Formats: sequence, C-alpha cells, structure tokens
Amino acid sequence: MNLTLIILNLLQVFSTHSCASVNGDIFKKNECSYKLESIFDTPFKTRNNSARPNQLWGSVSKPYPTNKWWLNLVMGEGIEKIYPYPYTASANENGVAFYPSEFQASNTTIETVPSNSNWLISSKGGFKKREIYEYDDLMVKLIFKREKEEKNYMISYLLKGSPYMTFYYNSLVLVLKHIGASIVDLEARDSDNKGYVVNLSNDSKYAIFSSEPIDLIVVKNKKGFSIESTSAFTGTIRIALIPTSEDIDANFDTLYIHSMAIPVSANVEFNNNSIIHRYKVSEENESSNLLLLAHPHHIDNLDCLKYAENLYNYSSLRGDMVGVIGNVWYLVYDKLSGSSVKDMHERKIDGEYLEKIKESLENEILYKYEEYESRSIYFFGKKLARLARIALIANQVDSKEVKQKAIKELKTQITKLFEYEVDNPLYYDTTWGGICSRDGMDSNTNDHGNGIYNDHNYHYGYYLYALYSIVEINGIHDEWIQSYMKKIVFLAREFTSSQNNEYFTKFRHVDFYDGNSWVNGFHIFENSRNMESTSESVNAYYSSYLLYSKLNMTTDAHISDLLLTSEIKSSQKYWQIKDDSIYNKKFAKNKVVGILWESYVQYDTWFGSRPDYIYGIQFLPYTPISFELLSKEWLNDAWETIKTRVYNQESVSDEWSGLIKMAGAIVDSSINSKTFEDIKSYDNGNSKTNVLWWIYNCNHN
Ligand SMILES: *[C@@H]1O[C@H](CO)[C@@H](O)[C@H](O)[C@H]1NC(C)=O
Ligand SMILES: *[C@@H]1O[C@H](CO)[C@@H](O)[C@H](O)[C@H]1NC(C)=O
Ligand SMILES: *[C@@H]1O[C@H](CO)[C@@H](O)[C@H](O)[C@H]1NC(C)=O
Ligand SMILES: *[C@@H]1O[C@H](CO)[C@@H](O)[C@H](O)[C@H]1NC(C)=O
Ligand SMILES: *[C@@H]1O[C@H](CO)[C@@H](O)[C@H](O)[C@H]1NC(C)=O
Ligand SMILES: *[C@@H]1O[C@H](CO)[C@@H](O)[C@H](O)[C@H]1NC(C)=O
Ligand SMILES: *[C@@H]1O[C@H](CO)[C@@H](O)[C@H](O)[C@H]1NC(C)=O
Ligand SMILES: *[C@@H]1O[C@H](CO)[C@@H](O)[C@H](O)[C@H]1NC(C)=O
Repeated sequence: MNLTLIILNLLQVFSTHSCASVNGDIFKKNECSYKLESIFDTPFKTRNNSARPNQLWGSVSKPYPTNKWWLNLVMGEGIEKIYPYPYTASANENGVAFYPSEFQASNTTIETVPSNSNWLISSKGGFKKREIYEYDDLMVKLIFKREKEEKNYMISYLLKGSPYMTFYYNSLVLVLKHIGASIVDLEARDSDNKGYVVNLSNDSKYAIFSSEPIDLIVVKNKKGFSIESTSAFTGTIRIALIPTSEDIDANFDTLYIHSMAIPVSANVEFNNNSIIHRYKVSEENESSNLLLLAHPHHIDNLDCLKYAENLYNYSSLRGDMVGVIGNVWYLVYDKLSGSSVKDMHERKIDGEYLEKIKESLENEILYKYEEYESRSIYFFGKKLARLARIALIANQVDSKEVKQKAIKELKTQITKLFEYEVDNPLYYDTTWGGICSRDGMDSNTNDHGNGIYNDHNYHYGYYLYALYSIVEINGIHDEWIQSYMKKIVFLAREFTSSQNNEYFTKFRHVDFYDGNSWVNGFHIFENSRNMESTSESVNAYYSSYLLYSKLNMTTDAHISDLLLTSEIKSSQKYWQIKDDSIYNKKFAKNKVVGILWESYVQYDTWFGSRPDYIYGIQFLPYTPISFELLSKEWLNDAWETIKTRVYNQESVSDEWSGLIKMAGAIVDSSINSKTFEDIKSYDNGNSKTNVLWWIYNCNHN
C-alpha cells in the first residue's frame, strides 16, 4: 500500500479537507480549529459482521449506506417495495413495477393499499441481472442487464418527489406492460412522437415521454396488455400519472414541457440557515426547467421556487404533493434549534427550585449497576446520559461535589466501554463500515438490532451526550478527554459523517427528501423504512451538535444543528398531529403518530399499544432540546387527549407517568413539583433532579 495515499485518505477523515469540501460562505475560512492527527487504524478493535452484502449491491463497496430509503432493493432478494413518492415501486428480474400510492385510514392506522393494477417496465427478452448502478444523497439508479450483452441495458432512476418514473434504455425494445386494467387507447400527442397519452380501462391516465422520437404500439396477448417500441431504442423514457381526470390536456402539457429536464444526480449542501438540494439535470439548458413535487414540510421552508401551473396535486401519505420548478431547493430555517437552546444550562436558577434541586442532587443515586443493562448498548447509553443530565444540572446550580462525583462515574463507566472491559463492547465493523456492538454483530436479533444498523443514532446519541457533558464541565483539555479523543470523534462520526470516507457512510440515517431519519437498518419490511421515537433521534443530533461545538469542530457542529432543525420540523409536521391537513380525520384524533413508515402510519409502538408508551416514546429523553421539539401549539391541543387516554387505563407505571406529566407541564400549569411527589421511580434515562429542572424551566421559558 502506498503510504502517502493512506495518509491522505486518513487526513480526509478528520482534518480540514472535510471543512473545505462543504460549500457555502461560512465554510470558506477554515473553522475546524480542532484537528485530529492522522490515524492509521480505527481507534476501535475491528471485527467482521455476520450479515454480508449480496451481489445486488453491484460495485458499491464499504462504507455501505445502511439506512437509505431504497435499501429494500438490495436486502434479501431485493424484491420488496420502495416508496419513491408519489409512487410505490419494486424491482425483480423482469424490471421495475410501479403504481401511484393510495391510502386507507382506520382510527389506529393509515395504510398504503396494495394495488392489483400496475406497470411493469421491461424490455423484449427480459433481463438476466440487476444491481445498483450508483447512488447519491437523494437518488439511486438500478441497472438491468442481459447476460454477456454489455451494450443492452436499462437503467431505472429512482428518487422521491418525481412525478415521472424514468428509464434509460440502451439498444433494447421497450416493453411497458400494464397488469390489471387494460390499455384502452394510446395516443401520440406531438408530431415528433415524443409524447403519448395512455388511457386505461379503469379511467387512470398516464403520459409517456421520450427523449428521442419513438414509435409505440399497443400489444395485446394472452398475458394482457403492453406498450412496445417497434424497434430497439436508445434514450430516456419517462412515465407520469396524469393526476386528474379533468383538465387532462393542461396537465399533460405541463408534464410535457418539463419532461426533458431529467434529474441524473443530486447532492445536499449546507449553508448558513439552509439545507440545499442541488439536482443535476441531463441537459444543462434544462436545469431551471426541472419539475419535482414537494411535500408540506418543504413548502413551509422552500425559498425561491416557482410553483408549476396547471398541474394537479399528487397525493401521498404525507399530504398533497405540489409541483415546483427549479433544480436547486433552498430549505431555509428561521433559526437553528440547537443554537436556540444553547444557553439553557447557563441560566441562574433561584428561589424554592434552587433548594429543591440541590437537595435532590444530594439524594440522587448516581449510577447503579443493573444486570439487564450490562449487555445492552441502548440501556447502558441511556443511563450514562441520565448521569450526564445530573452532572450538567449540578454544574448549573454549583453543587460541586455531586458534579465531580458524576463526572468521575461517567469516566469510569465509559473507560470500561472503551477499554473492552464490558461484556458487550464496540467494534469497528470491517464488513459494512460502522461501529457495532459485539452481541449485535453476532446475531441480528441481539441488542436492538445494533449489528444490522438499527437505531444507531438512538444508541450512540446517548453516549455523545455523556461525552459532551464531560467536555462541557471539564473543558477540552481534560486529560481523559484528550486520551480518548480519537474514539470520541470516531463515535460521533459514525452517524454524522458529512462525507463518504473510508470508515463511514455519509449521514447514516438521514433521508434528506423526508427531512427525518429512518432507523430500521437491514430489517426488511414491505412498508420499507420507519422511525418510532422522534425525540431520541432529535436528541442524537442535539448531542452531536453539542459535542462538536465543545470540540471546536465548528463545521460539523453547524451541520448537526441543521440536521437537528430538519429532524424537528419533520417530527412536528408528521408525528405531532395538529389538525387533519396531513392525515385523515379518523386517525388525526390520536394527536400523535407512534411509528411512521414511508407507507404506513401507526398509533402503536414496537413494545406495546398502551397510550403511555405511544405518547411517551415521542417525549423521552428530556433535555433542553425538548423545549424546541415539543411544540406548545401542539400540546395545547393534544394534552387533553393524552391525559385522558393515558390515565383512563388501569394502571400507569411511575416511570411512564413521570415522562407523560413532564410533557403536560409545558402547557398545564397545575403540574408542579408536588405532582411528582407520588412518583417513586423514574425511567432509567430520567431522574428526580431532571424533573425538577424541567418544571422550573417550564415555568420560566
Ligand atoms: C471474519 O472473522 C472471522 C473470525 O475472526 C474470520 O475467521 C473470518 O475469516 C472473517 N471473514 C472475513 C470474510 O473477513
Ligand atoms: C378504534 O376503534 C375501535 C373499534 O371501533 C375501538 O375499539 C378502539 O377503541 C378505537 N381506538 C382508538 C384509539 O380510537
Ligand atoms: C388503475 O390502475 C392504476 C395502475 O396503473 C392504479 O394505480 C389505479 O388505482 C387504478 N384505478 C382504479 C380506479 O382502480
Ligand atoms: C378513455 O377510456 C374511457 C373508458 O374506457 C372512455 O370513456 C374515454 O372516452 C377514453 N378517453 C380517451 C381520450 O380515449
Ligand atoms: C451567510 O451568512 C453570511 C453572514 O451572515 C452572509 O454574509 C451571507 O450572505 C450568507 N449567505 C447566504 C447564501 O445566505
Ligand atoms: C435545450 O436545448 C435543446 C436543444 O439543444 C432544445 O430543444 C430545448 O428546447 C432547450 N430547452 C430549453 C428549456 O431551452
Ligand atoms: C394542493 O396542495 C396545496 C398544498 O397542500 C394546497 O394548498 C392546495 O389547495 C392543493 N390544491 C388542490 C387543488 O387541492
Ligand atoms: C476552542 O475555541 C475557543 C473559542 O474560540 C478557544 O477559546 C479555545 O482555545 C479553542 N480550543 C482549542 C483546543 O482549540
């Protein structure tokens, strides 16, 4: 191996290169004043994973993206559904099947209805092999090949928010099969034979566009209907649902005008208060002509975009999708959430609460070993973050002794983890590129799926918070911090790396189109990706923001603050239900989503259907960022429902009751420290001290 090359690669991981590569004014000067020396190995011991990538990944190599919205294309047999809104799609050896998503609501779920009518985009003679061609921040391309015929292939461009499904053909006869409803009519709409309207027997209408003139005919045989080209074709085909049965002509014309602005790649940038989506369009002169569809959370923050005229909305699980024109999306936030609560622990606490908090700190059990937590990366982390809260609050009220004991205990516990003195330590996974627990790597059912990249932001977010508290209190020059710096930064990078480097995939969990994270790793579900606890995800980015800030890693801190802000916006739009503008009335009555999928909405949790679980899992853990996440506007309306549903049950545990009442305290002034006197036991991430701190801030925020 070439040593210079290795050093260069390693430098890219941690040094100025990562700052310079991010576009934007504030990043022009080098603000990464804290640099790690180049390192030759991961600071964690390495191990390989019992889960292995299959051939569907094609030439993609380590570090693999482990939580992308299209992972169903490469997991298992790669035949499960994905959701490039407004469509539902899937791939198999014949090509790509798709149909527009439709929904059905009950009082506890909204589901995407399976369709018995769909397109299957293929070619005469079919395909022999498919694999990922390439992927980026927003798109993925799947290539379909014939054995030994390198020149004949089809590439499917998949992205969220495109009204067109796009396919590049190289020297193949098109076969666009329609399964279910029959093809009633195929009408050429321009003299060039580049635009067609298809009329189905079920009254749906589609537009087909082609980059080159193409002769298409309807073929009916025993197996049903298809549209085929009369000869081998090379060029791009785009198929779009015409989203209305009225104004067909006007809608077709809009789709036609924009049909040759074809997005071929996309990347995400960060600048000041904006997250920027930049699409590259096949023909340079068509860039400003790109037509995409935006969801409600985009519309709230999109700057400088034109709306498409004469195009009906498409429907999606997340509400109406509206046509917007332009190849650069600026999502601009009024303020960044992390910075907004930055000084919360610097405020002076006084009066009766100061006394109560000090007394509570004296009585707090700092850390107690529990058998069930010892092998659980999740529960162990939660407990460390609880102790970090105690340390930070002790620091705030100047309880020196408790503060010192808490920091000492945090160091003791984390040292055991970093020095492989615990039963279930962390390793760098040389198979996929990530950090996994030993138990997790041994089996996908162990340790909350840590070994198959489930919940990594939840898990590691807690450790980052614990580490942050030490740097906050003792400063960056603390000897212990310095001695573990590589491990600390490595752990933070695990899910917040701002580039694909040799160790980690870029932003492991973030779906930049949806604005939120997906956490389910390699688990295959027909509803594809999901996230339950928005509050744990928000706290994960809050923790990386705080830690990077304290380590003077300004660029990373800024990016984490943007991810955090985006995560909060999407949580407030799609998990915290304020009205029935997104979800059907029947479901909206629940006021919250327990688990949101790309294609399914549940009033439920993974660990039970009790209302205290469903609401509480969207609240924990309570930290300063909770004041940004838990919207007053939402709770003003939702609290009555939450309170009634939670306390109409037989018995509610103290642990959950504490979490529920803390949320109530934001809007219900009758909740005060006395309310908590009956609570004898707190959730393992919570404490009496944290409750008192919280109530004080509810009264003074
Ligand atoms: C994975 O690790 C095991 C145990 O260390 C080793 O025997 C095996 O060769 C490794 N497999 C690969 C593909 O690296
Ligand atoms: C949903 O409806 C069922 C049947 O009508 C009822 O038993 C259940 O309590 C309802 N659940 C919610 C959360 O409204
Ligand atoms: C007609 O077929 C399309 C699939 O192309 C399907 O999405 C749609 O639901 C069908 N419409 C009706 C009314 O069945
Ligand atoms: C489309 O099909 C429907 C149902 O068969 C028919 O009523 C309608 O006239 C057709 N429209 C066109 C433009 O062919
Ligand atoms: C970013 O912020 C800086 C400083 O506030 C400002 O000068 C610059 O114009 C901003 N850039 C953009 C693209 O808004
Ligand atoms: C881009 O250029 C092509 C041919 O060079 C032309 O047909 C097309 O209309 C142009 N598009 C725009 C938006 O100007
Ligand atoms: C399309 O969606 C937008 C945004 O939700 C909404 O304001 C508008 O009323 C919708 N248009 C129609 C015709 O439903
Ligand atoms: C971090 O930045 C602060 C404020 O700019 C500065 O006082 C401190 O010396 C820096 N620390 C290191 C280790 O660079």
